[in-house]
Amino acid sequence: MCGIVGYVGDKNSVPILMGGLKKLEYRGYDSAGLAVFNNGKIEVIREVGNLAHLEKAVAKKEPYGNLGIGHTRWATHGRPTKENAHPHTDCKNGISIVHNGIIENFLELKKNLMGKGHIFRSETDTEVIAHLIEKHYDGDLFKAVQYAVDELEGSFALAAISRDFPDLIVVARKDSPLVIGLGDNEYFVASDIPAVLSHTKNIFILENHEMAKITPRGVWVTNFEGKEVKKDILKVKWSEEAAEKSGYEDFMLKEIYEQPKAIKETMRDKFDRNGQMLFEGMQLGEEDVCKLKKVVIIACGTSYHAGLVAKQAIEHWAKIPVEVDISSEFRYCDPILDENTLAIAITQSGETADTLAGVREAKSKGARVIGITNVLGSTITREADGVVYTHAGPEIGVAATKTLVSQMVALYIFALYLARARNTLSDKKISAITEEIKNLPDQVEKILSGNGVIKKAAKKYANCTNFLFLGRGIGLPVALEGALKLKEISYIHAEGYAAGEMKHGPIALIDDGVPAVVVATKSKVHEKILGNIQEVKARGADIIAVSSFGDTEIEKVVDYVFYIPETTEILSAILAVVPLQLFAYYMAKTRGCNVDQPKNLAKSVTVE
Ligand code: G6P
Repeated sequence: MCGIVGYVGDKNSVPILMGGLKKLEYRGYDSAGLAVFNNGKIEVIREVGNLAHLEKAVAKKEPYGNLGIGHTRWATHGRPTKENAHPHTDCKNGISIVHNGIIENFLELKKNLMGKGHIFRSETDTEVIAHLIEKHYDGDLFKAVQYAVDELEGSFALAAISRDFPDLIVVARKDSPLVIGLGDNEYFVASDIPAVLSHTKNIFILENHEMAKITPRGVWVTNFEGKEVKKDILKVKWSEEAAEKSGYEDFMLKEIYEQPKAIKETMRDKFDRNGQMLFEGMQLGEEDVCKLKKVVIIACGTSYHAGLVAKQAIEHWAKIPVEVDISSEFRYCDPILDENTLAIAITQSGETADTLAGVREAKSKGARVIGITNVLGSTITREADGVVYTHAGPEIGVAATKTLVSQMVALYIFALYLARARNTLSDKKISAITEEIKNLPDQVEKILSGNGVIKKAAKKYANCTNFLFLGRGIGLPVALEGALKLKEISYIHAEGYAAGEMKHGPIALIDDGVPAVVVATKSKVHEKILGNIQEVKARGADIIAVSSFGDTEIEKVVDYVFYIPETTEILSAILAVVPLQLFAYYMAKTRGCNVDQPKNLAKSVTVE
């Protein structure tokens, strides 16, 4: 995830661009840059590191111009280096562009353009856009961008300027956000509204497949086919602070609602054009997969729960025994590993000290290590033998939400990859599960839109001091995560437990009105879990069930039901966890807690 900005008007664009980038820094901050039109030339300044580095360079060089574009980067293709930082330019330095998104067919385009003599200076997917525009440019920048976007596959929000036009920005959007702020004879471009809000509250939101020509005289919007689109002005009422959260009260809620997109983005680079699973950065070929005797997963906190889900997917689909260990325990347990063991370290930050120590332990014993992380360039990406990225975008809320569902989806696809390599599932079965995976974003969307009952239940139980979360099979990691979320942000004691094991202890905790959250989605253990519901109910517990749509019988037995759409049993974990995130969120809000920064916790724990 990156952030882009642009300005055209009668003021110096530089402070405006820098101010906008500051607001977008949450979208990524491994490098930043700007391009400013000055006296018939485009001056480009780029720096590695957060915005402070670019600020220093700008203070030294003092660029000036009434037209400019800027970028803050969160690297996806190519390391965070100066060469890979945006803006990118064409061969003649006549066209400059900034881009947020991923160009999926960039390798093919790059090869083609290089064949035509274009010289590339970075490892990014973005640079192909600059050269494509150059290829199509015959004096009309808008047309050149229009032809260029026609060749692009993937997602993009982009802004382009040319040294032939002192007052023109051309923008285009597909699957990445882009807004245009409307001022008086001046216009602002940004990835999101907060970046323009100190200048104007009148906004055009560019939709997918729309592009625009922006000059100080006005904005002309068309679709990619060139047909004019009349836009309505959105009058923003949010304060600047509310706007950073896109109108949501907290980052956590915003991130919960971003989950459909996070899943989609994470899936994007894990299937090739023919729908086959693809793990390019992993350094684990099919031959290596066939030799595997065991998989060991290490992780902490929420990532550990993703590991528990992955265990079931890998064992069930790829038939490899899987052990899941808490990182802080793993390295002191003298784990038995060898070169036929695959160790998977799951860490959204890529920086958790215990998990990194586990990686070193696994490597020292000869295991091959794969890191699953959300942060490019994080320590794990350098220490693991191979890396699988989730593409959830930066997560600000301390309690992990969108990074968890992204980890789960990456691991589901990875499990299928293993199954295909080992021939443990038929092609037909793999295709059927793949289709179900592709439905997940829409299904999560559906859960998010039906949150009324979750709010009601939270209101009723907000003052309870003890909670039980129960699950069996694939419902168990969900119950553990539901309990963890509640503890983390609402400071209520919550016990996550295997429903069948409850009778050996936690059942003693049940009294009249103690709430028990039971994951009772459609599964092979459904009847068993209904039995467990009866057991706790008989002892006076109130029951909140997470169940599959269509299970109306359960309503007769329990106090509240959070419904989720039906899917393959193992995939149901990713759906069932969403209502429990919302439940924890509304509980915490009702209790007046700071959900984004819960006490005593940190987003990434870099100490043992
Ligand atoms: C901290 C965070 C949790 C996270 C855990 C593991 O405790 O508060 O939200 O699940 O670290 O983090 P990692 O970056 O390794 O996934």
